[in-house]
Amino acid sequence: MIKVDISNVWGQLSLPDLLAVEQEIASAHQTLADGTGEGNDFLGWLDLPVAEETEEMKRIQKAADWIRANSDVFVVVGIGGSYLGPRAAIELMQGCNHNIGKGKGDPQIYFAGNTLSTRAWNELQRLLEGKDFSLAVISKSGTTTEPAIAFRALKWMLERKYGTDGASKRIFAITDPAKGALRQMATEEGWESFIIPPAAGGRYSVLTAVGLLPMAVAGIDIRKVMKGAYDAKTEYNYVRSFENPVWLYAGVRNLLYRHGKTTEIMASWEPGYKMMGGWWQQLFGESEGKDGKGIFPVSVEFTADLHSLGQMIQQGERNIFETMIRFDAPEKVAVVGSDAKNLDGLNYLAGKQLDFVDEQAYQGTLAAHVDGGVPVITVDMGALNDEKLGELFYFFELCCGVSAYLLGVNPFNQPGVEFYKRNMFQLLGKPGYEN
Ligand code: PA5
Repeated sequence: MIKVDISNVWGQLSLPDLLAVEQEIASAHQTLADGTGEGNDFLGWLDLPVAEETEEMKRIQKAADWIRANSDVFVVVGIGGSYLGPRAAIELMQGCNHNIGKGKGDPQIYFAGNTLSTRAWNELQRLLEGKDFSLAVISKSGTTTEPAIAFRALKWMLERKYGTDGASKRIFAITDPAKGALRQMATEEGWESFIIPPAAGGRYSVLTAVGLLPMAVAGIDIRKVMKGAYDAKTEYNYVRSFENPVWLYAGVRNLLYRHGKTTEIMASWEPGYKMMGGWWQQLFGESEGKDGKGIFPVSVEFTADLHSLGQMIQQGERNIFETMIRFDAPEKVAVVGSDAKNLDGLNYLAGKQLDFVDEQAYQGTLAAHVDGGVPVITVDMGALNDEKLGELFYFFELCCGVSAYLLGVNPFNQPGVEFYKRNMFQLLGKPGYEN
């Protein structure tokens, strides 16, 4: 199990505070499990993890093998919940520079359709020049503007390069089983397609083909990811007490919010976790931020951001708490070298492992922030591997469902997202939005 350590929140909360909300947490978890809360038609994600490889997973793996063998580059087109999970998984497992040195057999993976930036589009075109590429277009609604624009252009590039039939083999659609423009196109054009179950909302869809196909193309073992998620589903739904890290995390962050801590800073010590921070931000932000309520989620990377936001965290407004994510050190170690001249004065660290230095930085930061009045929850993930990845996704999804019900909001809708779209469509003159 993932370990949640709350020993650094006691300056701000007391044990009786926590025990007083135990019943509320139990009831939020039960509401989720029974499917009796608001948004209960979007609970399909709870049971996505399965013990055995499904036919859909076999088909995903087969498609991924074909893509790997026939593409220098694989482009994943999508936005929000149809983008963040796969990118987070790949960068966490393989680092932010995972594309370097890759090509046919183990393709580079780029993400498109998550922006309207012309510079980003020009850059992607440059990256694709002279390359064999395939793409996955991911959209649950099948009508989201950003991915639809990128897909139209990429499809045209594929058709010009490979002809209509050749292009069709290189397009993989991931969408609703029955509804939407993308489903209609996939059926009409005969593209291979995978489904996003109607009962799994976008930000809860990473354990469907949305996340699994890009992960499999990256060479991540999706059976192990599912195994980790399945074990998480079994354990974290079974234990109904503060032995359950889901209860500790959801309960403590909610209590801190009640004590005026309205911003949660998720700090990781791994550059590869940055997009995972983005996935978590969307999951919690879109699920909790409504009805004038919600903890504002911000993700940072230490030690880099200690040199940018460290000052603010240490001495700025005291409305924040931190959640620090820790992983075990990797097996391959790095050691600080010795230098005869020692002009940089670093010989006091010579022979020490880099991870030892990192650990002291973590301990030093933790003590400083707690002294500065910032309650800190530590989430210790243990070893980083494919199974842990699945566990991590399920863990945070469950925490989010329980947290949102504790807060008294529907975790599964996002009515506010429509407001910018409505204005944009009106400005663009989209039919039906004239007034
Ligand atoms: O979580 C959500 O539901 C959203 O972030 C969506 O994933 C996002 O808006 C993209 O939607 P779609 O998959 O319909 O293109």
